[in-house]
Amino acid sequence: MPTNSLTITKPDDWHVHLRDGDMLKQVASYTARQFGRAIIMPNLKPPVTTAVMAAAYRERILQATRDYPDFEPLMTAYLTDTIDAQELRTGYSEGIFTAAKLYPANATTNSAAGVSDIKKIYPVLEVMQEIGMPLLVHGEVVSKNIDIFDREAAFIDAIMQPLLHDMPELKVVFEHITTKDAADFVEASAGNIAATITAHHLQINRNDMLVGGIKPHLYCLPVAKREVHRLALRRVATSGNGKFFLGTDSAPHAVHDKESACGCAGIFSAPNALENYVQVFDEENALDKFEAFASLNGSAFYGLPVNQGKITLQCQPQDVVSVIGEKELAISPYRAGEVLRWRISDN
Ligand code: NCD
Ligand code: ZN
Repeated sequence: MPTNSLTITKPDDWHVHLRDGDMLKQVASYTARQFGRAIIMPNLKPPVTTAVMAAAYRERILQATRDYPDFEPLMTAYLTDTIDAQELRTGYSEGIFTAAKLYPANATTNSAAGVSDIKKIYPVLEVMQEIGMPLLVHGEVVSKNIDIFDREAAFIDAIMQPLLHDMPELKVVFEHITTKDAADFVEASAGNIAATITAHHLQINRNDMLVGGIKPHLYCLPVAKREVHRLALRRVATSGNGKFFLGTDSAPHAVHDKESACGCAGIFSAPNALENYVQVFDEENALDKFEAFASLNGSAFYGLPVNQGKITLQCQPQDVVSVIGEKELAISPYRAGEVLRWRISDN
């Protein structure tokens, strides 16, 4: 018998961009209505590098999500070549920072101030290892000679493997993995490594973005790869393996910034995040593994309690709106205008 309804522990989003200012006000409730907690990416302009900045940003998020008072934003520090280890130690011990994010310099949106050479922050990573603070990694090597579709696989050999070797106790999350290489690597690693997987990388491959015309709203970083990679991601996500958990990487950009001669990277998937994920698990006959991926594995890795509440999903069609917001703030959500098979129950 097909399952028509699924009730699970309230899930968390372990990777989301909520932006700031009017954009924050416009997008934050889409995350807060379905997730108990979310790991908030720090790539603002300027990036969130101090505990004072993170605490102030958290207040602005709480203000923007006040209709969902149970929602808890978990803040992250943006690592730079010159970040102060003491700042992380204090921010973490005071409960302001939950983790720190490594952007290789110039890898993605607002990453110019990222780390130019991981060796430069080894003293900081040693402190994080000592205090148990997770390192969240954008795993791409950026170099003129490395093809954009090979950036993630190159990162495993050049950075990730040596890092895990040098810091065996450091908790590392390989964020938004997009390749079979990364899925296999995380699955096989003995260390403290886990990975987040987005809904869109479980659903689209690079043909969806490039065949029949360029679809700027499916362009994100790391960029979608070949079908073999998408299938590998689906396999590990739906396997029940505790090393893999939900992280939407919802990354809103205004339509005019996406539909441009030099379009921004980022897919705004927050409005229907859970519905897209659950559809994948349904298609893979793995609905019994959905709660682990969405609600249990991430909190276990971070050492946090699971959420108290529940959420119910129903197998009922719903239309995705074509646009959210107006004028300068108009955003095209992921799968705009399409019909989804699942919806979040209202009661
Ligand atoms: C993100 C953004 O827009 O901030 N874009 C993206 O394509 N995922 C940055 C990031 O997470 O790489
Ligand atoms: Zn991201």
